[in-house]
Amino acid sequence: MQMGKSATLILLHAVSFYIMVGTGEAQLKTVLINCGTNSTVDVDGRTWVGDLAAGSNLTLSPAPAADTTAVLSGNTSLGPIYGSGRVFAGGLNYTFRGVQGDYFLRLHFCPFALDYYNANNSLFDVTANGLGLLSQYSVLRDITTKNMELQRSGSNISSYLIKEFYLSIGSNELVIEFIPLKGSFGFINGLELVASEDTLFAGVISKVGGNSVNLNVSGRGMETMYRLNVGGSRINPSQDPDLWRTWEVDTGYMTNVDAGSETMNNSNITYASSNDSSVAPLLVYETARTMSNNQVLEKRFNMTWKLAVDPGFDYLVRLHFCELLYGQPNQRNFRIYVNNRTAADDFDIYARAGGKNRAYHQDYLDAVTLRVNTLWIQLGPDTATGASGTDALLNGLEIYKLSRNGKLAYVGAFNPAKNTSNNSKARILLVGIGAGVGSVLILALVVTIVFLLWKRRSSEISSKNDAPRWRPLFLHGAFLNTTNNAKEAAGTKNQFGSVALMRMGKRFTVAEIRAATKNFDEKMVIGVGGFGKVYRGEIEDGTLAAIKRAHPQSQQGLAEFETEIEMLSKLRHRHLVSMIGFCEEQNEMILVYEYMANGTLRSHLFGSDLPPLSWRRRLEVCIGAARGLHYLHTGADRGIIHRDVKTTNILLDENFVAKMSDFGLSKTGPALEHTHVSTAVKGSFGYLDPEYFRRQQLTQKSDVYSFGVVLFEVVCARAVINPSLPKDQINLAEWAIRWQRQRSLETIIDPRLRGQYSPESMKKFGEIAEKCLADEGKSRPTMGEVLWHLEYVLQLHEAWSRANAEESSSLDVESLSQAGAGAGVEERRNPLFMDPDPAAIS
Ligand SMILES: *[C@@H]1O[C@H](CO)[C@@H](O)[C@H](O)[C@H]1NC(C)=O
Ligand SMILES: *[C@@H]1O[C@H](CO)[C@@H](O)[C@H](O)[C@H]1NC(C)=O
Ligand SMILES: *[C@@H]1O[C@H](CO)[C@@H](O)[C@H](O)[C@H]1NC(C)=O
Ligand SMILES: *[C@@H]1O[C@H](CO)[C@@H](O)[C@H](O)[C@H]1NC(C)=O
Ligand SMILES: *[C@@H]1O[C@H](CO)[C@@H](O)[C@H](O)[C@H]1NC(C)=O
Ligand SMILES: *[C@@H]1O[C@H](CO)[C@@H](O)[C@H](O)[C@H]1NC(C)=O
Ligand SMILES: *[C@@H]1O[C@H](CO)[C@@H](O)[C@H](O)[C@H]1NC(C)=O
Ligand SMILES: *[C@@H]1O[C@H](CO)[C@@H](O)[C@H](O)[C@H]1NC(C)=O
Ligand SMILES: *[C@@H]1O[C@H](CO)[C@@H](O)[C@H](O)[C@H]1NC(C)=O
Ligand SMILES: *[C@@H]1O[C@H](CO)[C@@H](O)[C@H](O)[C@H]1NC(C)=O
Ligand SMILES: *[C@@H]1O[C@H](CO)[C@@H](O)[C@H](O)[C@H]1NC(C)=O
Ligand SMILES: *[C@@H]1O[C@H](CO)[C@@H](O)[C@H](O)[C@H]1NC(C)=O
Repeated sequence: MQMGKSATLILLHAVSFYIMVGTGEAQLKTVLINCGTNSTVDVDGRTWVGDLAAGSNLTLSPAPAADTTAVLSGNTSLGPIYGSGRVFAGGLNYTFRGVQGDYFLRLHFCPFALDYYNANNSLFDVTANGLGLLSQYSVLRDITTKNMELQRSGSNISSYLIKEFYLSIGSNELVIEFIPLKGSFGFINGLELVASEDTLFAGVISKVGGNSVNLNVSGRGMETMYRLNVGGSRINPSQDPDLWRTWEVDTGYMTNVDAGSETMNNSNITYASSNDSSVAPLLVYETARTMSNNQVLEKRFNMTWKLAVDPGFDYLVRLHFCELLYGQPNQRNFRIYVNNRTAADDFDIYARAGGKNRAYHQDYLDAVTLRVNTLWIQLGPDTATGASGTDALLNGLEIYKLSRNGKLAYVGAFNPAKNTSNNSKARILLVGIGAGVGSVLILALVVTIVFLLWKRRSSEISSKNDAPRWRPLFLHGAFLNTTNNAKEAAGTKNQFGSVALMRMGKRFTVAEIRAATKNFDEKMVIGVGGFGKVYRGEIEDGTLAAIKRAHPQSQQGLAEFETEIEMLSKLRHRHLVSMIGFCEEQNEMILVYEYMANGTLRSHLFGSDLPPLSWRRRLEVCIGAARGLHYLHTGADRGIIHRDVKTTNILLDENFVAKMSDFGLSKTGPALEHTHVSTAVKGSFGYLDPEYFRRQQLTQKSDVYSFGVVLFEVVCARAVINPSLPKDQINLAEWAIRWQRQRSLETIIDPRLRGQYSPESMKKFGEIAEKCLADEGKSRPTMGEVLWHLEYVLQLHEAWSRANAEESSSLDVESLSQAGAGAGVEERRNPLFMDPDPAAIS
């Protein structure tokens, strides 16, 4: 007994001692992680270890098996590590042990799409041991900006992006924490840690227009903004084998490329200081730019590089020099300006480096204020000196952003109003997100297909993908032959029957469709989506119709069309858009719907010149949509989940009767039993049920959540995601629920509603919306309950309106509320409520 205990104690001591020594000694020089896989790949002689196989030096939290992460497979043609990635809807930590000292951290991102999943739509934050690296980060936005710069430089554009940071790790442990924005998700393809010499960045540095300061560069954390091989070609990581940096071409950043001519000489260059060998590879010093037009003695211009930077940070400007031509001092003396201020004058490379062909660098620090978003680096003549020639030379340029208070992340670029001159960045993001809100983008967290598995099956899958053609067999099978043939053609979809066939309506010819749409005249286009275009058209008897023509190349369109036909053929309801017919001919896939004269609900809420809807009308529209959804959930035999409830999918007819549309993502109940289907998260950004996202289990309560967002959108009349707003307001659901919980929803409602609604009805309305947004699906009401409550809200409002009307004597209710709305949109009472659809009542 006694012996056993002491033996255990000794063992414990031994173990902890070993660990301390082990981790203390074994500082890892390089860590390369290939995310989302357990396969190890070699690239340029370096081994990238799968994050599932990295062993004790790396911990993932939560463990990758948890349902908050999914592994996706991408396209390896861009590079072996981009063949896989990790996607996460909740927070994810990568914890590295055995790392201590100064490191370059590189995050590799390669957006890929698989099924409906599109990494382009992700938004997330990243921190490293608490230092904010990225915030509300959109890879799409960054890649787009980067590619514009690459194109200006005449370089090939890139489908992936590497974000590089310089960190000083004191604790022997590095926690990289990824935090997706609520309702969004994050992804990562590769992580790279490369230890640097601690002499890489000196402690003392000259400040532009001031004295030297001790900057403690590594203590602050830096982000690499630019690394340019001036006057030369791109230097790939494998050509910089100490630190594996990438050096880009500089031409895209020059205000006038003609001002500097390229020059090179690769003979016998050495480092000016023996401890400089990792500052830059000698390749950087072999090429340079000098001032053009050598014949002119007096050069009165500058070579200028203009670089977009984030305002409100300090920047380390590192200039690389090597005198390639002159064999003595005082031949080439010039001035260096940073943001129009002189950083150095009488700069003589030969004198500073101690000779010709000596690689030398000079650092400057510049503080950039909140009003400035560019860094100008200029080299020009110093006429005050007695140099024999006025010329300048530059071999390389690096710009690093330094944190001022523990944060490198910058989110101001989200506000396009702030930085009109700079930001392409902001605009691109707006497009990305706007489109998501609008209709096109569908985001999804899909599929736990592991890389190897994917690879094994890729031939099978790609043969499908390679032929994104219509499968006429599917339709013929469905309509003409309801036996095995149809099942086979439609895969697991076997819901087609002769009833479906009858309900499909008229079969149009392409000629008829062309006549109806004036040969697909662009002027007839009333909507565009991921599937293709929607046209307004007049079919034979003069009936207006909405004609949805799938883009024949769109695989997504095909799948969604099939679902939509499947759904619509089973459904008939006053509050669901109905199908008049279809056309399936000459490789065309066209659906013809009833025409909804008043367009989308969204167009009546904001972003258009349409008159605002009165409170009553908004309630009636919500009730109509709720009826449609309630019917979907309960009316059809198995129950259907719409999955894409949003204001652009609620259409209004000429009498403002609301109808649900777009069943392309809908799922029938039984499909839920198939886990491979239930793992796919689809829907629209901003409306997506967070629980569905976390658990990847679809229930009708996900529609209820989205409907709750619709309710807030209806009352606040703003976009569900608006990146131009302050951070806490971007997401409508989050923002509105905060106000609602404080019982102050009225503070943020559409100002155009003021004075024309019953406060009691507004209070109830807010409560319903709040319930719909409950965190857990089981706490949310059913659509039937929502419908019932909304009808009650309308009653409250009507009672209030009647009371008001009596008070103001002879005025009738309608004209009063019309005056209140000030827009004349209130008309006769909607017949909807006198004529409830029997199918809608359970
Ligand atoms: C983990 O770190 C040790 C040194 O601390 C190293 O020898 C080992 O190769 C590392 N393991 C992996 C999988 O990188
Ligand atoms: C990891 O590799 C093992 C074999 O080494 C394999 O059995 C397992 O399925 C792989 N896991 C994943 C998630 O790829
Ligand atoms: C992979 O990417 C390459 C280049 O971007 C492209 O040509 C190829 O079609 C892609 N392959 C697949 C299967 O997506
Ligand atoms: C990640 O690490 C941070 C700090 O170390 C911790 O607060 C957070 O809960 C962790 N997140 C996860 C998902 O483990
Ligand atoms: C992401 O967006 C870019 C630019 O719009 C596009 O070229 C690219 O194909 C998209 N990638 C995916 C995976 O959708
Ligand atoms: C651009 O891409 C093409 C084709 O991949 C390649 O041949 C060429 O060398 C690339 N150019 C540069 C500057 O990298
Ligand atoms: C640099 O900063 C780190 C972290 O803030 C601090 O621990 C260290 O003492 C600083 N070094 C100097 C020389 O100021
Ligand atoms: C390159 O430098 C070497 C040594 O300094 C010199 O001999 C040679 O002429 C230079 N070549 C060019 C093209 O300037
Ligand atoms: C190369 O440079 C070294 C030191 O600067 C010098 O000793 C040597 O002679 C040079 N070699 C040539 C071929 O120029
Ligand atoms: C590194 O270079 C700096 C300045 O050039 C010098 O002061 C220092 O002594 C050098 N250190 C070593 C180890 O050579
Ligand atoms: C520097 O001067 C240029 C004009 O020469 C001007 O456009 C630019 O805004 C100035 N930059 C700063 C940071 O003041
Ligand atoms: C070069 O740029 C600086 C700073 O913008 C400016 O003050 C100077 O006049 C310019 N020199 C010439 C010759 O244009």
